[in-house]
Amino acid sequence: MSHAEDHEGTRRDFLYYATAGAGVVATGAAVWPLVNQMNPSADVQALSSIRVDVSGVERGTQLTVKYLGKPVFIRLRTQEEIDQAKAVKMDELVDTIARNPNIKGNVPATDENRAMAGKEEWLVMIGVCTHLGCVPLGNNAGDFNGWFCPCHGSHYDTAGRIRKGPAPENLHLPVAEFVDDTTLKLG
Ligand code: FES
Repeated sequence: MSHAEDHEGTRRDFLYYATAGAGVVATGAAVWPLVNQMNPSADVQALSSIRVDVSGVERGTQLTVKYLGKPVFIRLRTQEEIDQAKAVKMDELVDTIARNPNIKGNVPATDENRAMAGKEEWLVMIGVCTHLGCVPLGNNAGDFNGWFCPCHGSHYDTAGRIRKGPAPENLHLPVAEFVDDTTLKLG
């Protein structure tokens, strides 16, 4: 290899690395704002857990609270709603995953795995349609007596599971637990 060729090769390598380096910088610049958005700001962190007094909620009604910028539906279900949800077989579901962060793993979307542990009359869900994010209407709405999203016609059943329409997933559930009989902790 002549000295000239050697020099050229070195120069090519240098250009290659410089370009690759520039690519990395550009990618880093594009990704950073997303990473930064994922770090909750101080005011969000302060609200990362809230307690809700549910003593005033009557059977067959729901309370909606705002939590981390999203509506959360807290419904005290009637026995009929519970029975309807329990009667549904897994192969009738569009999404067979419970979407419940309070239970480890992708457990099946049975009513038991969706309702509050030990208090099956309570169903607590993030009130955001899994299609494009509208807030579904509740109080026995839609073809399955649960929630209905009028934006593009998604029907959810009495366990908040998607049954018809374009939404791909069951309504998601938040981290939630009862700290006493009438106090629900979110987060
Ligand atoms: Fe709910 Fe499209 S956003 S159906």
